[in-house]
Amino acid sequence: MLVVLKQNAKEVGQEAARIVAGAVRSNPSIVLGLATGSTPLGMYEGLVSLHKNSGLDFSKATSFNLDEYLGLAPENPQSFHYFMHSNFFSQVNFSSERVHIPSGALRSNYSEYCERYENEIRKAGGIDLQVLGIGRNGHIGFNEPNSSLASRTRLKELTQETIEDNRRFFPQGEEIPECAITMGIGTILDARRILILATGKSKADAVAKAIEGPISSSVSASALQLHPDVIFILDEDAASTLTQRDYYRRVLELTKKYTPEKLA
Ligand code: F6R
Repeated sequence: MLVVLKQNAKEVGQEAARIVAGAVRSNPSIVLGLATGSTPLGMYEGLVSLHKNSGLDFSKATSFNLDEYLGLAPENPQSFHYFMHSNFFSQVNFSSERVHIPSGALRSNYSEYCERYENEIRKAGGIDLQVLGIGRNGHIGFNEPNSSLASRTRLKELTQETIEDNRRFFPQGEEIPECAITMGIGTILDARRILILATGKSKADAVAKAIEGPISSSVSASALQLHPDVIFILDEDAASTLTQRDYYRRVLELTKKYTPEKLA
């Protein structure tokens, strides 16, 4: 695991965009796992700008999003479909038939649908690079505390904390989704490489537990300790309660010196 410490959210977004862009350039047919939320916005901005100004080409790439709220149509501005199209896909040259986002419009047959989503990932050759954010309760995707560390794509009930965190995005009076379709922790751990971003003080506790705490289903992100190729990109606030910050800085310098390909 590598921990990259940045000063602020802007730098986190830029560093994530740099790594994703490098991966796309070295493998144009890459399969990306993508996240929504406020944290990766700077990364998408960076990727859009690299596409527009430096010709970063997504035409052969494939993507699978982590999750979608159940009950939201794609044209609902709060849906993750809408988020992805407005912040990314409509601004780059991704081919729409290679974009996959779980459906929020399902009314039944959830497990068959989720199995098909898993099959699509497998058929595409698996996820090469998965981008993640982290919830205040340590969730990745919508794998809320006590999700099985072996879980696969499925319907998941959101915790009250997550529902409250999402309230700010929904106009007053509008119903806030209680469930989501989300890739499982097992699905995420199958990705060849994982990039997880966190910014802000409200994430510090979850980040510290994920990196330095024991592996536990009560903090889904701690399962990333089981993965051999994970990079955490954190701003100062999100990293503020880590106890080994100096060591992580030294590891980063030594990585740049001896194994720079890990950060390319
Ligand atoms: C979004 C997702 C979630 C978010 C997490 C953090 O696709 O899977 O796990 O990454 O809730 O959200 P923000 O970035 O809004 O704090």
